[in-house]
Amino acid sequence: MKEKKIITTVQVFESIDELPKDAQALMMEAQKIREKAYAPYSNFLVGAALRLDDNTIVTGSNQENAAYPSGLCAERTAIYYAGSQHPNKKINSMAICVKSPQKVITQPTPPCGACRQAIAEYEVKQQQPIEIYFMGEKGNVIKAKALLDLLPLAFDASFL
Ligand code: THU
Repeated sequence: MKEKKIITTVQVFESIDELPKDAQALMMEAQKIREKAYAPYSNFLVGAALRLDDNTIVTGSNQENAAYPSGLCAERTAIYYAGSQHPNKKINSMAICVKSPQKVITQPTPPCGACRQAIAEYEVKQQQPIEIYFMGEKGNVIKAKALLDLLPLAFDASFL
């Protein structure tokens, strides 16, 4: 038996103000679209914004459904839109933010496992990392240099 260590490094920014200008602008797009979330069941609003390689910005918010599992997270709403509308453009970065009417969320809120798997598919497809920035409503922003940094031992097409 051998042990294998998996190490992930992320960067923690004090706030949105400390981000590089293009990431800051992207996070502001995520904040804007977050207001359009359709989340009457959880009241948990999520916004996601993607920057494509020609600087096109694609955004999405979470879309819930009375049949709960039929809803979709903001990240997948945005990335599937990008994948369907701009299949030949690479995705450079993604910004994610959340908001709750109950409390001010200061913890950077990462994408769920299903969204990580969905985003990973595009990272593998384009053979280029996607930078991921995520935050709560206020406070620290975490940056991962690649989605696969957040999904060690990922399943992908090479296993099929
Ligand atoms: N949600 C997202 O949009 N992204 C995530 O990564 C985590 C969860 C949404 C799904 C649901 O509408 C609400 O947040 C509560 O789980």
